[in-house]
Amino acid sequence: MANASIALIYGTDTNNTEQVGYKIAKQWENFGEQLDVFNIKDIDINQLEQYSMLILGIPTWDFGGIQADWEDVGDSLSELSLENTAIALYGLGDQFGYGDYFIDAVGWLYEKLQGTKASFIGEWPTQGYDFEASRACIHDKEHFVGLAIDEDQQFELTDQRIEQWVIQLYAERAVEAA
Ligand SMILES: Cc1cc2nc3c(=O)[nH]c(=O)nc-3n(C[C@H](O)[C@H](O)[C@H](O)COP(=O)(O)O)c2cc1C
Repeated sequence: MANASIALIYGTDTNNTEQVGYKIAKQWENFGEQLDVFNIKDIDINQLEQYSMLILGIPTWDFGGIQADWEDVGDSLSELSLENTAIALYGLGDQFGYGDYFIDAVGWLYEKLQGTKASFIGEWPTQGYDFEASRACIHDKEHFVGLAIDEDQQFELTDQRIEQWVIQLYAERAVEAA
């Protein structure tokens, strides 16, 4: 049973996406609202249908590769019914080390969720990043479909990016709900 109306679900190999997830949750608490936070490998994917909003976090591995626990549930994700759900995506990557595949897994997750009828919030500008290509630039090269965090090359920008993104999400969610 869900405790909150918003869940943050992450997958991770080396914990960066988890740490960023807890920072996002803490930031959201400033608005007086708790989030349920889960590792994707610990939950039944059908639980996602219980929430009015989902924040989903995924790192990219091995040249555009999908983090293993997310990849395991990819087909089930596509079958979820999320018609009244707002989804915000965030991704971890390394723009200098893997500049042709920067946060590609976020694009994969976005594509997987297309059949669920969810609405998406939280697009994020590509300005301030230095990369060649990203599967997460769905609509144009000026935006990622979610927040990009680079703990390898721009860790000093992480906290301010999170703060700004959470404020943006809060405003976009209010518009969605109206
Ligand atoms: C072997 C290896 C492959 C990687 N491949 C990519 C990649 O293709 N694209 C990208 O943006 N980042 C890539 N990264 C960077 C990771 O996504 C980044 O370190 C991230 O913070 C890891 O998140 P996690 O700790 O939650 O697993 C790679 C890192 C390593 C060590």
